[in-house]
Amino acid sequence: MPKFFISPVFSLQEQAVLFDGDCLELLSGIPDESMRLVVTSPPYNIGKSYERKNTLDKYLEWQDRVIGECVRVLHPEGSICWQTGNYVHAGSIVPLDIALYPSFANRGLKLRNRVIWHFEHGLHCSRRLSGRYETILWFTKTDEYSFDLDSIRVPQKYPGKKYFKGSKAGQYSCNPLGKNPGDVWIIPNVKNNHVEKTSHPCQFPIELVERLVLSMTRKGDWVLDPFAGVGSTLIAGLKHGRRAAGAELSSEYCEIARNRMAQFMAGSLRSRPMYRPVYDPKNAGRSMTTPTAGKAAEEQFQLL
Ligand SMILES: C[S@@+](CC[C@H](N)C(=O)[O-])C[C@H]1O[C@@H](n2cnc3c(N)ncnc32)[C@H](O)[C@@H]1O
Repeated sequence: MPKFFISPVFSLQEQAVLFDGDCLELLSGIPDESMRLVVTSPPYNIGKSYERKNTLDKYLEWQDRVIGECVRVLHPEGSICWQTGNYVHAGSIVPLDIALYPSFANRGLKLRNRVIWHFEHGLHCSRRLSGRYETILWFTKTDEYSFDLDSIRVPQKYPGKKYFKGSKAGQYSCNPLGKNPGDVWIIPNVKNNHVEKTSHPCQFPIELVERLVLSMTRKGDWVLDPFAGVGSTLIAGLKHGRRAAGAELSSEYCEIARNRMAQFMAGSLRSRPMYRPVYDPKNAGRSMTTPTAGKAAEEQFQLL
């Protein structure tokens, strides 16, 4: 089988592009209005190994420049999904989606949803509640945006439910294709036991991006991630027959991304399938718990 080609420079003729360097440089070579979807999770300016912490104002100025370029390359029917958490300084949190909202709104983009991505694992805080969600701001450039809800419907809770009165009495009341997945998504984040885990400290689960790709693009469209990390967005795009482009400043993560994309194309990349139910220790026979773990909390619950 011929080796899958991942171009190091952008061209509209390619299927996959991974630029080893600064996203602004990649973006400068992308034609206006050519991308159908931008999905990314930028650095949060919290001093992770891959970033240099800056003042919040300087960080927001830099993000504004990148967002401006993403808006320029976005197709009029396209979407931008900016996934962020909190900037934390001296114990005080600033939700980055709130801080970044003006960069989109001032350019005329419209916010369609603020998706809450809930997960169970992360840092344990002792002076505030542990953070267990992040958000995805979904913006569109115009009102004529592409959105295919049917491609991401989830099973109905009560598929056998019927109208009990009126002209439709006796007919099923649910959409047989499933229900709208809503704006709270419960998807495990990529921690140590996750099949997709690499050495990157905060990679996306591929399934999180798949929903965006499926509902906001069609086959052959371009999906762009300016902060590509280990390539999760690009893989989600390729998985569904889209073209995928990204930039990553760290050569180490770029190399991992290239390998993962090649493995995906060769059919050997392990990933968590969309819609697999979240691990439930009770249903799983508590295989990962010791007899005393969480006993105090459990007793409390039984008293309620
Ligand atoms: C939150 S991570 C994104 C992880 C990614 N979503 C994934 O699933 O692997 C942010 C990434 O942006 C990269 N980065 C930081 N500054 C960059 C820049 N100016 N241009 C391109 N990438 C950059 C970092 O090295 C880091 O891997």
